[in-house]
Amino acid sequence: MANVDGEYFAFNDTCTHQGCSLSTGTLDGTSVTCPCHGSTFNVTTGEVVNGPAMRAVEVYAITVNGEQVEIAIA
Ligand code: FES
Repeated sequence: MANVDGEYFAFNDTCTHQGCSLSTGTLDGTSVTCPCHGSTFNVTTGEVVNGPAMRAVEVYAITVNGEQVEIAIA
């Protein structure tokens, strides 16, 4: 999950390139960069911004209820 200026976005942690954890990557605005080979994904859509990854990561709907954040994982 990423907090972008107070708005939360949830996405699959597994990079679609070779499976590294995106939660150990770096977040810059709406872009998360994989620590392994530098693929960058847009956390709001899951789309690839820069490769080597070719496929988007899955994103999940979020509902904020007070202090609780609910993530809809189908
Ligand atoms: S595993 Fe993420 S860029 Fe290679």
